[in-house]
Order: sequence, then structure tokens, then C-alpha cells
Amino acid sequence: TRVAIVFGGRSTEHAISCVSAGAILGALDPDQYEAVPVGITREGRWVLPTGEASQLTIQGRTLPEITEASGSSVVLAADPTVTELIVQDGLPSLDGVDVVFPVLHGAYGEDGTIQGMLEMAGIPYVGANVFASAAAMDKEFTKKLAAAEGIPVGPYAVLRAGVSLSEADKERLGLPVFVKPSRAGSSTGITKVTDWADLDAAVATARQIDPKVLVEAAIVGREIECGVLEGEAGGAPEASLLAEIHVDDADWYDFETKYLVGSRYTIPAALSPEITRQVREFALQTFTALDCAGLARVDFFVTPSGEIFLNEINTMPGMTPTSMFPMMWAATGLEYPKVVDRLIRTALR
Ligand code: DAL
Ligand code: MG
Repeated sequence: TRVAIVFGGRSTEHAISCVSAGAILGALDPDQYEAVPVGITREGRWVLPTGEASQLTIQGRTLPEITEASGSSVVLAADPTVTELIVQDGLPSLDGVDVVFPVLHGAYGEDGTIQGMLEMAGIPYVGANVFASAAAMDKEFTKKLAAAEGIPVGPYAVLRAGVSLSEADKERLGLPVFVKPSRAGSSTGITKVTDWADLDAAVATARQIDPKVLVEAAIVGREIECGVLEGEAGGAPEASLLAEIHVDDADWYDFETKYLVGSRYTIPAALSPEITRQVREFALQTFTALDCAGLARVDFFVTPSGEIFLNEINTMPGMTPTSMFPMMWAATGLEYPKVVDRLIRTALR
């Protein structure tokens, strides 16, 4: 089976995607799969990297990057019927590829765009479809769809381009708030605001990534995550054991803490059986509410009084060696190579 591992890309999470891809390439069973690594530069050019997967790691504080120098550029698609619709200069031939693993986080990858391209080309791919990817990428629509199913979400306001936060919303949300690009990941563009005087700067920072910004009331609670995998052979989706992230000295789970400093975690999270059951149930309900497929990591806050709030869902969660999704599944009894194998088999079904 030929598997194209597509990674890098135009989003702010380019480097994290490279690290995720490096780990997946290392986990593919060579007896079963022929891997075709396909890198996308920050500018959107597709290249066939010549380097080793082992280079796709974080070295100290240096993040990996795919550039045009990483390998040969590829042009042209194979199928002439789709070529005219989808091919721009720089898109590669996916001819002979049985399945694509779009290990892309964020815009142009986790948001339905590459999924649409693959749908049009008729190539199976790992993970959520166009709609689920787009809905889950956008924190506004994630909340709306989840809330409609009765999954609790915290108080928030949506600031579309050019709009600022009303006085009534300031009153309603209270301080502190988290200001986030509506469509981003790995905590990029997010600022915690503890003084309204800093709000405009925070909104401007978020708008560098997305003109639509969310202002969320800060929820004082524990950071709890759950991995979800699509059921085997068409069965119901399955939830992993839960993880708790301890950010320790960091104020919150920002990019630095996620990838550079590192955080401690507990799997399974030390929660009561009842809260554990409820969080896993909400994770499965969120997966279903958004019509997800393949995999997702669903993130929650649990307050000291036991209230549970959905934070967000990631349809292509980080798959780096220190990422929570593979660690939660390993603790649940599914080691990393088995997860990768299951995702590819599910995509091909
Ligand atoms: N957006 C990052 C990759 C994650 O959710 O793990
Ligand atoms: Mg995310």
C-alpha cells in the first residue's frame, strides 16, 4: 500500500506538522506500507523531500521546516480529468498513491481544503471529511454545533473582522479572557488578557492569523484531553483514557509549554469515575456532532466543582513523540504504530 504522508504546509503550525510527520514515517511498517513523504513549504509549494525522517524533530529550540531546498519540486497531477480543476503550478502527482495521510495542522490542511482537493481527485485520506475539518478548525462553529447537542461550552464572544468587543460583552465575560484566532492551533496567536487596556493589542495579534477572533471567559479548571478513534469495521467511535496536562510554572498551556519547555501529564487523569465517564461521553458526542472520521483529540476544562466545558476539538491532533494523542492511546493499549496502521486501514475501508 502506497501512503503519501503530506506535511509542513502554509499554516502557523508548519513545524509541528513536520515533527508529527517524522514520527508517523518512523512508525509505518515497511513490510506493509510504502511511504511517499510529500512536503509543503510555507509558501505552498509541494516538494518531495530528500532528507531523512529523523531530521523532522525539534533540536533544542530549532524547529524543522520544509523549504524548496528540501527536495525536488513537483508539478502536475496525473488524472487529466481532475487536473484542470485542481492543479496549480506546484501540485504534485499523487498517481499510484493508494491513500493520503494529510498530517497537516491548521489552515490549508486541517480545515477541509486539502480534504476537498483529495475528494475531487478521488483519493482516500486519513481523518475528517471536508465539513468536519472546516467546522472543527473554527472555534466559533465547533462551539455552536457542540452546544446544539447539549455539550457545555464556556461563555464567549465572536468578533468578526472590524468588530470590537462591546461593553456588555466585557461585563458578561469578565476578566481574565483568552483572545484567540477563530481558526488556528498549537496556541499560536492566543493572548491571555487580564486588563481591558490590553484587549486591542491582543485582538490585533489574533487577527494576524484570522480576521475572526474569539474572546473567551477564562475557565479556572484542569486541562483534560481525550483521544477518539473511529470504530473498527464501522463500529462506534472509541474514547481513550483521559490525560491531564499540568502546566506547572507556566501560566497556561501556550506554544512554549506545549513544544519547547514541555509539560507534565497524568494518564489516566485522576478524576472521579463519574467525571471520567462524562468527559469521555462528551468527547464521543463532540466527535459525532461534528461528523468526524478517523481521529480527533477533544480538549476540556474541568472546574474544581466538577463542571465540564468543551475547549476545542482537533481533527488532526499533534502526532509528535510528545503529543498527547498517541500517548493517550498507548496508555489505552494501542501503541503508536498500531494507531497509524488503524488510521490508514480505516481510511481505506
Ligand atoms: N493543533 C495541535 C497540533 C494539536 O492540537 O495537537
Ligand atoms: Mg488546537
